[in-house]
Amino acid sequence: MRQLSISQPRKVLFGENALLQLPDELKNMGIKNLLCIIASPLRNIASGLLPALEANDISAILIDPIQKEPTINDVEAILASLNKQPIDAVAGIGGGSVMDVAKVIAAKINNRQSITEMIGIGNLNGRSTFLACIPSTSGTGSESSPNSILLDETDNMKKGIISPFLVPDLVIVDPVLTVGMPPSITAETGIDALCHCIEAYTNKFAHPLIDLYALEGVRLIAGSLLRAYHDGTDMQARTNLSIGSYYGGLCLGPVNTSAVHALSYPLGGEFHIPHGLANAILLPAVFEFNAPADVKKHAQIAAALGVDSSLPETAMIRQAVEKLTELLVSCNVPTKLSALGIDKSSVDGLATKAMGVQRLLKNNPRELTLEDAKSIYHKLF
Ligand SMILES: [Fe+2]
Repeated sequence: MRQLSISQPRKVLFGENALLQLPDELKNMGIKNLLCIIASPLRNIASGLLPALEANDISAILIDPIQKEPTINDVEAILASLNKQPIDAVAGIGGGSVMDVAKVIAAKINNRQSITEMIGIGNLNGRSTFLACIPSTSGTGSESSPNSILLDETDNMKKGIISPFLVPDLVIVDPVLTVGMPPSITAETGIDALCHCIEAYTNKFAHPLIDLYALEGVRLIAGSLLRAYHDGTDMQARTNLSIGSYYGGLCLGPVNTSAVHALSYPLGGEFHIPHGLANAILLPAVFEFNAPADVKKHAQIAAALGVDSSLPETAMIRQAVEKLTELLVSCNVPTKLSALGIDKSSVDGLATKAMGVQRLLKNNPRELTLEDAKSIYHKLF
C-alpha cells in the first residue's frame, strides 16, 4: 500500500453557532491584529463579532472580497491595499473563493515568494501568519484542504497552489452560516463536494485511510442535497452537507480529484462558469466514462448514492448515472453546455486545455485521451 501524508487543521470547531467562539479562539492564540476577509452577505455576522473582538483587544480590518472567482491580480491588489499594516491572523469567512484568497494572503504576509512561484504542488515555502477558515457554503472543502485555486488571467486558466502550509490552523464549521445560501448555490456547491468525494474514492491513487471519508461524504451529500435545496432552513440537511463538504476537503490533499475537475477548469477559465456548476454538468458523463476501469468502486459509489445494492454492479452503475442526472434536474442545474451559451465549436479548444491539467488527469482511474475529452464535451450538447 502506498504511503500517505495527511495534513489536517490544527483545531476544528463544528456545530451550530460555533462561529461565536472565534474571538475567544483568537485571544487564546495571542492574536492582536486580524484581517477578516468576508463575503458581503455575511457582513452583519461580522459586525456582530466586532464587539467581542474589541473586548479581547483584537483590532479587525474587514475586507470585501472579489465577487467572482478570484484572480492572482485580485490577491495582489488586496495585499497592496494593506499597506504593510501589522496583521498576525487572517480569517476567511465565506465560500471557497473567500477562503482560497484568505489562505494565499496569510501565506504571502512576511513572505517574499511571489504567488506565481507558489503555484504547483509543494512549492509554497512556508506560512508565518495564523489562518482561520470559516465556510459559508458546503462545497469546495477549502476549509480542510491544502489547496487554493486562483485564476491566472495571463492564460485564463485556473491554477492551484497545493501545500500543507495552506491547511488552516483553525476551522470553524457552523452550519447556520449556510442557511442563507440561495438554492442554486446550495445545489452547485453541494455537487462540487460530491465530486470531491466521488473522484477521491474512484481515484487511481485512492487510499483506504481516505476512502472512509469519501464514501460517507457521498452518502451524506446525496441524502441531503435535495432537502437543503428545497428547504434551506433544514438544519439536519445543512449539517450533513457541511460534514460532507469537510470530508470532501480532507480527500483533496492526500488523494485529490480527477477528470471531472480537469475538464471543468477550462469551462471556468474560458467561460467563467462557476466551479460547482461546471463540475455538475460533467459529473454524470465522466462517471459513466470511468466506471469500466473500476466497476466495483463505482458500484459502491452507486450504493452510497442510494441505488439498490442487490442489483448486478453494471446495472447499479447505469442507475447511478441516471440518479446523478436526476439530481441535477431536480435542483434545476443545467445538464448541457449549450444551456450556458457555449457553442460546439469550442469543444476542441476546451479539450486541448483540459489535457493540460495533467496534475488531475494522472489521477483518473481510466486513461483519458484528447479524443476522449472531446467526446465527453460533445455529449454535453
Ligand atoms: Fe472542486
